[in-house]
Amino acid sequence: MNRAAKLQNSKAILSPVWSRLSDVVIERGQGSFVYTSCGRKLLDFTSGIGVTNTGHCHPKVVKAAQDQVGKLMHVQMGIAYHEPVLQLAEELKTVVPKGLDQFFFSNSGAESVEAALKLARHATGKPNIISFQGSFHGRTIGAMSVTNSKNGYRAGYAPLMAGVHVAPYAHCYSMKGPLSGSFSPTNGQISGGHNANGQVNGGGSKLNSTQRAQTCGQSACCNEPLNQIENILATQSAPSETAAILLEPVLGEGGYVMPPRSFMKGVREICDKHGILMILDEVQTGFGRTGKWFGLEHFDIKPDILCFAKALSSGFPLSGIAASPEIQSKWVPGSHGGTMGANAVACAAATATLQVIKEEGLVEKAQVRGEQLRSLLHQLRERYPQIADIRGPGLMVAAEFYTQADDVRPFPNHDPRYAVKKGFTGALTKKCVENGMLLLNTGIHETVRFIPALNVSQEELELGFDIFEQSMKETLKEYYVERDTEARPPQQQVPFFMPLNDEQGGKKMRM
Ligand SMILES: Cc1ncc(COP(=O)(O)O)c(C=O)c1O
Repeated sequence: MNRAAKLQNSKAILSPVWSRLSDVVIERGQGSFVYTSCGRKLLDFTSGIGVTNTGHCHPKVVKAAQDQVGKLMHVQMGIAYHEPVLQLAEELKTVVPKGLDQFFFSNSGAESVEAALKLARHATGKPNIISFQGSFHGRTIGAMSVTNSKNGYRAGYAPLMAGVHVAPYAHCYSMKGPLSGSFSPTNGQISGGHNANGQVNGGGSKLNSTQRAQTCGQSACCNEPLNQIENILATQSAPSETAAILLEPVLGEGGYVMPPRSFMKGVREICDKHGILMILDEVQTGFGRTGKWFGLEHFDIKPDILCFAKALSSGFPLSGIAASPEIQSKWVPGSHGGTMGANAVACAAATATLQVIKEEGLVEKAQVRGEQLRSLLHQLRERYPQIADIRGPGLMVAAEFYTQADDVRPFPNHDPRYAVKKGFTGALTKKCVENGMLLLNTGIHETVRFIPALNVSQEELELGFDIFEQSMKETLKEYYVERDTEARPPQQQVPFFMPLNDEQGGKKMRM
């Protein structure tokens, strides 16, 4: 049997539980590209879901790991210290918010969330957790119990962890449908809250759900999600029983949604007011991805516990939490731990990763490249009005396509005559693989996300954009929706894309 046939056969002995974008076998990776066992070269705009922020196999990370492998691979943290973990803690201290300078290390993002939940319960002596609609925190029972981004992640696994209450995240038009609870749809009365700068505004805004959908964006919020947290604290989980409020600074699996600053500041204030810990899950947003070291910097807030993983070690399994010594001191020694956490090779790779991010200015690069990518997508939207929304900070960029379901709450400035069928982005991402690029979708709507390495070059970005445009054009042929006459003015032909006008001369758009 030849090698290709052997590999093909071996696929059958892996569990089918992993859902997978493509069937290719990746043999090696370098920078923004991966190479398959069949000799294909693919541009990687997934970065292994936000892991290879320094690109595949960055030489400095490779060297640090290789050097460490030959020296010492494993010391169990309950037995002794090792140098790489101490070096990593010192390096991390320079990038996390001041005061969050004691660390616990584990292997995966889910484990970091588990650690945060356990620490919050020990530190407060309280049982309950408030999490948010659209959130993703991992696949273990605890992390899954605070995850609300898709039925599929939870279905069939009950009973889940008790004591979890779910509040709406602040992105009204992505949530599709009116918020329930204390907001009154009849008079639109909202009391209290904060304006976009995080100042208390005395409340009393009167908005109907459509106005809210138009008002609520990244720079402003109707404050209803904050009211809903207060509502939960008044009706379901008293502050005296609530250990922590847990959230992502930008929803990852929930569709790359960045909330307004006032929302994040408001959550911090609610936590302070009621003596509740704030846990920020920066597993996907951490280490430069959003154009800042951590997403929290966009909002000028400091959590009590910070979860990190993924990009920390460029692909080695390593995660952890950061908290103040005061909070960490309440964690009963021996009540948490793990055999493999803080693996020596992973820690050495992580220290090198952090140094590369600093030396190569990758946090700033993420901002610049992110701007370029969003600008290209905005130009593309002029020609393909099926794109309803372009969003996300730094190189955490999403494009959402309009479907019939969006008619319930149309996107501001979007023409609902242009829509795609459900399943479009699934087909689009597969088409991208055919055309030479790995790209993922996210959330329950038709959204694709671009997560290239932070050191992606301008040429690679343009290549990815060209592959995306070509794939979109091909996929739209099948997934373009002919809107009914009610939605479309009579006699008007709606092409599936808008042709370039003469001035553009049919040339490719560029930054
Ligand atoms: C925000 C967030 N938290 C937690 C996790 C879980 O991480 P892991 O898959 O490493 O357990 C993820 C994974 O995508 C994530 O995006």
